[in-house]
Amino acid sequence: MNDYVISSLELHLFFARIMKEHALFLEAGFLVPNEAYRQKSEQLKQQFEALLEHVVRLSDGMIPGTVLSSGEIVTDFTLEAEQKTQRLTDISINSGITVQEKILQGSRKCDSPPVTEQQISSINQRAIRLLRELIAFKEKILGEVLCCKLFTGNYPLLIDHILREAKLYLSYVEELEEFGRIRPETRRSVELFWNRIMMEHALFIRGLLDPTEEELIDTADGFADDYQKLLMQARDTHDMTILTANALETTTRYQSFKTAGTIGIKDCKIKSLILPLLADHVLREANHYLRILKNK
Ligand SMILES: [Fe+2]
Ligand SMILES: [Fe+2]
Repeated sequence: MNDYVISSLELHLFFARIMKEHALFLEAGFLVPNEAYRQKSEQLKQQFEALLEHVVRLSDGMIPGTVLSSGEIVTDFTLEAEQKTQRLTDISINSGITVQEKILQGSRKCDSPPVTEQQISSINQRAIRLLRELIAFKEKILGEVLCCKLFTGNYPLLIDHILREAKLYLSYVEELEEFGRIRPETRRSVELFWNRIMMEHALFIRGLLDPTEEELIDTADGFADDYQKLLMQARDTHDMTILTANALETTTRYQSFKTAGTIGIKDCKIKSLILPLLADHVLREANHYLRILKNK
């Protein structure tokens, strides 16, 4: 199977969903005076949703089973989290995509790929255009929030965080278009990126939990500390083997915490300002990082 085709589909299956959900979180954070921002978020959500729908249609029988079973594309909770989030926000979510993703079949090595490089190239070009637009929008929001011209229910750090995730996605798609593959990165740079993302998730979770959820706040603070330590060690050490093992151990525990959190939020057992789909979203990002760590 063609590496360019498979890597592209795999990348979009994870990241196009992440981007459409970022657009939804942005949309949900705006108030009545910022209707234009809500509309722009909605438009970007729909465009990434259409991209994802197209990619899902091409992905059956193409993606390695290890990726499909990793819980980074959908989890057992995604569908319900979407339905509850749609009810709570009145923002429409195409859950048909989720249903299709749940029944995707893994790659069949003996078959020749039914998808052409031309089809993938046009998807990648479309993703690049959309990502540039989404990145510019996130930068505009962040700039205006930081000078207090705009109010949103989303933390400035969250906007900065989702901006970095979009830029990482864009860099991978651009590499696929330029070199036909995603260039190998050092273990250090991958872990620096994702350990920071994981640390920030813990900071968002602790800040969005109801103040009475003291035990969960303490646990989230503990994870933020663990990832902060990993980040400091990664900057100083030459031997990444122990650090990768520590990141794997921490992220495995974190995955359990996020799984319990997603269930608790979805089933209204945890008091918070966290949308069910945001809980599932950060769980999927941990699942994605875990797969990367296990493949090292
Ligand atoms: Fe994200
Ligand atoms: Fe994230």
